[in-house]
Amino acid sequence: MKNLYIDDLPDYFKQYKKSIKNPKKFWDKIADEGFVWYQRWTKVVDFDMEKAQIKWFKNAKLNITKNCIDRHLAQRGDKTAIIFEPNDPLEKAQYISYRELHERVCKMANVLKDLGVEKGDRVCIYLPMIPELAVTMLACARMGAVHSVIFAGFSDSAVSSRVNDCGAKVIVCSDGSYRGTKSIDLKEIIDKAVENCPTVEKVVVVRRTGTEVTMKEGRDLWLDTLLEKASSDFVSKIMDAEDPLFILYTSGSTGKPKGMLHTTAGYMVYTAYTFKNVFNYRENDIYWCTADIGWITGHSYILYGPLANGATTVIFEGVPTYPEPDRFWQVIDKHKVTQFYTAPTAIRSLAKESTQWVEKYDLSSLRVIGSVGEPINDEAWHWYNDHVGKKKCPIVDTWWQTETGGIMISPIPFVTPTKPTYATLPLPGIQPVLMDEKRNEITGNQVDGNLCIRFPWPGIARTIWGDHQRYVETYFTAFPGKYFTGDGALRDETGYYRITGRVDDVIIVSGHNLGTAPIEDAINQHPAVAESAIVGYPHEIKGSALYGYVTLKESGQVRDRENLRKEINLLISDMIGPIAKLDKIQFVSGLPKTRSGKIMRRILRKIAEGDFSSFGDTSTLLNPEIVEEIKNDRIG
Ligand code: PRX
Repeated sequence: MKNLYIDDLPDYFKQYKKSIKNPKKFWDKIADEGFVWYQRWTKVVDFDMEKAQIKWFKNAKLNITKNCIDRHLAQRGDKTAIIFEPNDPLEKAQYISYRELHERVCKMANVLKDLGVEKGDRVCIYLPMIPELAVTMLACARMGAVHSVIFAGFSDSAVSSRVNDCGAKVIVCSDGSYRGTKSIDLKEIIDKAVENCPTVEKVVVVRRTGTEVTMKEGRDLWLDTLLEKASSDFVSKIMDAEDPLFILYTSGSTGKPKGMLHTTAGYMVYTAYTFKNVFNYRENDIYWCTADIGWITGHSYILYGPLANGATTVIFEGVPTYPEPDRFWQVIDKHKVTQFYTAPTAIRSLAKESTQWVEKYDLSSLRVIGSVGEPINDEAWHWYNDHVGKKKCPIVDTWWQTETGGIMISPIPFVTPTKPTYATLPLPGIQPVLMDEKRNEITGNQVDGNLCIRFPWPGIARTIWGDHQRYVETYFTAFPGKYFTGDGALRDETGYYRITGRVDDVIIVSGHNLGTAPIEDAINQHPAVAESAIVGYPHEIKGSALYGYVTLKESGQVRDRENLRKEINLLISDMIGPIAKLDKIQFVSGLPKTRSGKIMRRILRKIAEGDFSSFGDTSTLLNPEIVEEIKNDRIG
């Protein structure tokens, strides 16, 4: 992309104004300058915010892998596209050039084609952070298949529910994965999951850990064998702008996970443009985002955004604390990383260690450092600024969501003056509004409210796979005509935004988005449990942690409570994954309920936080006496 930079603060305001006054013209220019198209669009955007029908770059034809790979070959063929840094620092890093990436993606696309995958088919990917993960996603995009990456920390039942929801034909997994000192048998999890997945015809297995696996005749195939005979030519499919690119599941406050659907052209334009500006990307930079590709951050800012810019992107397989809590700093030094993008939870956990771990390394290559996934607290912000950025690297505190596809509110480095804990200003084209409970827009500064977005942007998800009605109800109904983010925010005296957290029942634990409903469903399956309610409470490292209130059936009353806690957490691990385990479980004789039977989570949240000062009026509860009991038995 040529001249799509924002140069300085006046330029930001100028471009921002233009983008709001005439969004169509603004995005038309960006799409026109920065990408290769088989055919231009006939209309920049078409939308109906009531029905949540949104189309960008109508009738344009393209392939995202042509933009992410092929077009770089002439000038950047030998440039490293991906640096793979393995879990074990003694294992050699891999440097994959754009040319090699092209070859590997073409071969993988041929493998999938030979297995019967066609345009529009869904392919689920359950892989650790290894190059094959990126290659498989790109191969899907090249042939027009819709990838759905499932984070390789989810349990078999979480996997099967996602696979069934999108009706995947093929799953690509590995024998196992490495995480620090641990090795996890991923194929075994897939074997269990696929027992309940009637649509799955083939399971392709990548060899990574060498662990022994069972291969089911006629269904399971080793990738290395398939690649041996695969051709390295694959002409990319001509895709429509609105053809589905991928489905990515995210938790909702109620019900099953939502398969957010992102389409091709708008997503590409938005991630590429935001990557370039938010990370101040320059040609020879080495960019590293520590997220897992199984989350949206990895999709947009490890893979598509960087590659669309012809960047070098690091894929890191390991964890920040293995073999020592200096791994991040060691890798930055080793690869001379220029942009580093991580999550507040990682910063907080590393800030607890001695600063000697950071000081051991030369971090002078860094130019921009970023934060994503949850609000960053003041202390963590300063630690990051002082010890990692050495007060020279602007911190981009980027606010966005799986649903938004790309970064929405963030400082632009060297342009927007930063302010600790503030995501600061919206990117061009993004119109945040704060709304009160009565659906009125809150104007002016020094105000707070529900964060909504007024006008669509190219990266917005188009629907929830298979359930458009739920998409409309979740995002476009609370504040008609606007996209509702589910977050609260405040706007300070200068117009800077600070995200204050979720206003619904989604809880963000260590940067992972968890809905209360699926966790409660898992707990309620325990034979001794009658009912449960989950709330979040502040946690030093994780940001928020999970507190569960559980009522027992008659039979459960006499049981060993400690054991029961273990069983409940095991059940959650099995049904969802270890990330959703509860930190505290309090057994109660009842849950506070309204007269209509709704659990009063607000009160439970206050108790978990240890704030007994403002429960509000409890006299309208069905069982006000229960509040006292829960308060007295609170786990501190
Ligand atoms: O609550 C916000 C929080 O993460 C939510 C989105 O989670 P997910 O879809 O998993 O995507 C995470 C990565 C983009 C948001 O609704 N969040 C994300 N970034 C920030 C944030 N909260 C505060 N500050 C941020 N920078």
